[in-house]
Amino acid sequence: MLLTFLGHAGFMLEADGKTVLIDPWVTGNPVATMKADDLRADTILLSHAHNDHGIDDTQAIAKRTGATVISTFELGEWLGAQGVKAIAGNHGGTLAFDGGSVKLTPAWHTSSYQPGPDTFVAPGVPAGLIVRFGGMTIYHTGDTALFRDMELIGEEGIDLMCVCIGDHFTMGPQDAARAVRFVGPKSVIPMHYNTFPPITQDAEAFKRTVEAAMPGVTYYPLKPGEQQRFEG
Ligand code: NI
Ligand code: MN
Repeated sequence: MLLTFLGHAGFMLEADGKTVLIDPWVTGNPVATMKADDLRADTILLSHAHNDHGIDDTQAIAKRTGATVISTFELGEWLGAQGVKAIAGNHGGTLAFDGGSVKLTPAWHTSSYQPGPDTFVAPGVPAGLIVRFGGMTIYHTGDTALFRDMELIGEEGIDLMCVCIGDHFTMGPQDAARAVRFVGPKSVIPMHYNTFPPITQDAEAFKRTVEAAMPGVTYYPLKPGEQQRFEG
């Protein structure tokens, strides 16, 4: 499986001729290296509706490519009403897609789409994602605070954990390192940091914290646009 970091919390996964996008926010993303018009997708997974997770780009890409979008219930229903092919699930459910599946997990956060500064639409709840694709089991935390039940997610056998470390809106580095210890993945990619000022973090300092908390974990501090191949 080939993984491309789109910047912020966005990823592209490619395997067996299929492409999955997770939280593909590129338009207006100050660190993104790719354009929405250039992204292909068979499936798009959205952790929640916040603008920095790509709800606008998701609609454009899904309408252009015919990709299916998977999210929690209210967001999925709202996307369907916008003319997007959407599957609306909810926490605890496993939803199949072309080439894999996703289980929606809890995430301690909020969720809304802001078409303008004083307007909040597309309500519902945020999720984390356990993605099985290309021989890999990937836990994308979404935006979340630390919670002890991440240990239950770890029991599913996580190969790769994409963990938010930015602080302010989500876990910061200390809690993220505890989250990695609860989940026990083989590999870790930090995300949701260094996109804009309130979430500035030192990825190398986080690497040292993670390696101290969990010896043996492989750590990939990817730059936006950077790719990493994983064998499941
Ligand atoms: Ni958010
Ligand atoms: Mn966010």
